[in-house]
Amino acid sequence: MQNNIILVGLMGAGKSTIGRHLARRLNLTFYDSDKVVEERTGVSIPTIFAVEGEAGFREREEQVIAELTALPNTLIATGGGSVLRDINREHIKAGGTVIYLRASAEQLFQRIRHDKTRPLMQTANPMQTLRDLLKAREPLYMEVADLIMPTGKQKVNVILRDIHAKL
Ligand code: S3P
Repeated sequence: MQNNIILVGLMGAGKSTIGRHLARRLNLTFYDSDKVVEERTGVSIPTIFAVEGEAGFREREEQVIAELTALPNTLIATGGGSVLRDINREHIKAGGTVIYLRASAEQLFQRIRHDKTRPLMQTANPMQTLRDLLKAREPLYMEVADLIMPTGKQKVNVILRDIHAKL
């Protein structure tokens, strides 16, 4: 799907916000894989994690990633852990131009520290959790990325302009 765009990166990197704006600019249909999972189940992600565990969520996520990456003219904001499964990475790579929205653990933490909607952040030391997730996942984001965009300090408009210039 050549003109599709897929955003990957950790929680708080700005995938949903940037994705929505970029989709409008490029006239693509915007999908957020987390939102699609929630719409299909009729419950929130924390509820899915509570009832089915992370494994249950990953099954649902895999199904949604497979379907969304097969659609034409789309911009997909993926959940931060979608790169964990080999099959998802294959679908993401084949699905279009992949942009890794990259920020440091400290920058991500500033954005999501008050957010209660991310079950993986409900730990005794969320900052350390983010560092660990970033360390484990950075190679996977790099593996699928066609383009790497820093999103730590920049304003949304600047990021959008930079992405647009590089596409
Ligand atoms: C997750 C990230 C979340 C959501 C779920 C698990 C992760 O998406 O899919 O809470 O494993 O990093 P966002 O990256 O959109 O927050």
